[in-house]
Amino acid sequence: MNVIFLGPPGSGKGTMAERVAERCGLAHISTGDMLREHVKQNTELGNKAKGYMDKGELVPDALILDMIKERFSKEDAGGVLLDGFPRNRKQAEELSGIMEIHKVIDLVVEEDVIVDRAVSRRVCGSCGTVHSTKTHNSKECTACGADLVTRPDDNEKTVRERYRIYEEQTAPLIDYYGAKGLVRNVDATLPIDEEAELICTILGGQ
Ligand code: AP5
Repeated sequence: MNVIFLGPPGSGKGTMAERVAERCGLAHISTGDMLREHVKQNTELGNKAKGYMDKGELVPDALILDMIKERFSKEDAGGVLLDGFPRNRKQAEELSGIMEIHKVIDLVVEEDVIVDRAVSRRVCGSCGTVHSTKTHNSKECTACGADLVTRPDDNEKTVRERYRIYEEQTAPLIDYYGAKGLVRNVDATLPIDEEAELICTILGGQ
């Protein structure tokens, strides 16, 4: 089974993917995480992508498609859970030539909620575990004890720009996949464990 998580920045795609992928036997593929790893490792791709990411803009399709095709060349026997890809019509059309998609989960949440979540988000600089200052007071990661950092694109101005780009370029994919009968909406303001359970139930019905 191959699944896409759609949803605006900060809607919880990464948080849900972490909880759902293993339970459903899916490989979690996050283009945002892959790009951040390239930036951290100072690769040529990372250096090209960083400026776009810091401004909240999409990284050019050619760079993303090369990166994701390389990732897809690995065997993922149980299927994949795509988080942050595809991001526009061009990427969706390219994807359709590579694999069949069985379900699309659309995480629904208002702009002001995601801005509040993103500016409260802290990420472990070592293992990448996501935390929120709303539920976690310490500056240390609960998973590995390393320092938590704020993503450079998690300030209000950039988050609102990311949301604008999401509405313009990514949200139309809800209709694109909706026309194929693949989309299920999920209320992304539910308590985290309840939301993850609901998504597992939807995917389990496949
Ligand atoms: P990416 O990393 O994909 O960012 P995004 O889509 O903006 O999503 P986020 O990672 O910000 O949020 P999320 O939905 O995963 O939420 P999270 O689970 O962390 O992309 C970053 C950049 O890379 C892009 O701007 C672009 O430049 C580039 N890029 C990536 N892919 C690309 C592509 N395909 N093409 C071109 N460019 C690309 O949750 C957020 C917070 O909310 C957390 O603190 C969490 O604890 C909390 N939370 C989650 N769910 C709940 C809940 N139910 N209740 C309360 N709190 C919750």
